Amino acid sequence: MPEKLVVGNWKMNPPSVADAVALGRDVAAHGQTGVAVGVAPPAIALAAVADALRGTAVAVYAQDLHWAERGAFTAQIAAAMLVDLAAGSIVGHSEVRRDQCDDDARVAKKLARAVEAGLRPILCVGESAAQHAAGEATAVVARQIAADLAEARHASLDRLVIAYEPVWAIGTGTPATGEHASAAARAIRAALKRAGLDGERVPILYGGSVSARSVGEFANADGIDGALVGGASLDADEFGAIVRAFA
Ligand code: PGA
Repeated sequence: MPEKLVVGNWKMNPPSVADAVALGRDVAAHGQTGVAVGVAPPAIALAAVADALRGTAVAVYAQDLHWAERGAFTAQIAAAMLVDLAAGSIVGHSEVRRDQCDDDARVAKKLARAVEAGLRPILCVGESAAQHAAGEATAVVARQIAADLAEARHASLDRLVIAYEPVWAIGTGTPATGEHASAAARAIRAALKRAGLDGERVPILYGGSVSARSVGEFANADGIDGALVGGASLDADEFGAIVRAFA
């Protein structure tokens, strides 16, 4: 059985570093449930939140990283800058793909850089609304998995996590169904196998409008091992309820 894991993706929230530290402390105060818990604060709050959470059971993740080792990349963050602060990094989130024009080639380079640096990658894949309407979800995620893993050495992928995040479900208040997520998870595991990995051991998280109300759908879905939670992770009590649903 893959490990169970719930990660809060805070995106460009909360408004200040002090608020991020307070939120991190509130998340940690919920205690342990047997489910691994992580939070991904904005880069500017990473060091302060990492300090506040040192010694707790809550792991800190970055939201993104650059593929290059170092150099002239204004505004970017290198994997080496993250290793002392974060357990891992989200890679290939659809908002980064959209706003920073990341394609699968760049995502593959970022993933390779993350694992080379010892960061646990949470690779996000998922179909757009148009692809969903065309019934292409499973084909799209299979294609993304193959392309996004192309640069990493297999030996370094033993702690890979996949987040299945249908783009049309993110921030809309309309999550996918558990059945849809399970079908995607099956396609993802088959694609991992084709890529030479043991897909049965890789945790697959569902993301996209997960809330305390909708989480049961995914906690009970075959092949789903946790959640990547956006909006609802900004409320420590609601996030705690989501974590407990997977326990
Ligand atoms: P949401 O975001 O829970 O606000 O839909 C999830 C994500 O983008 O990771």
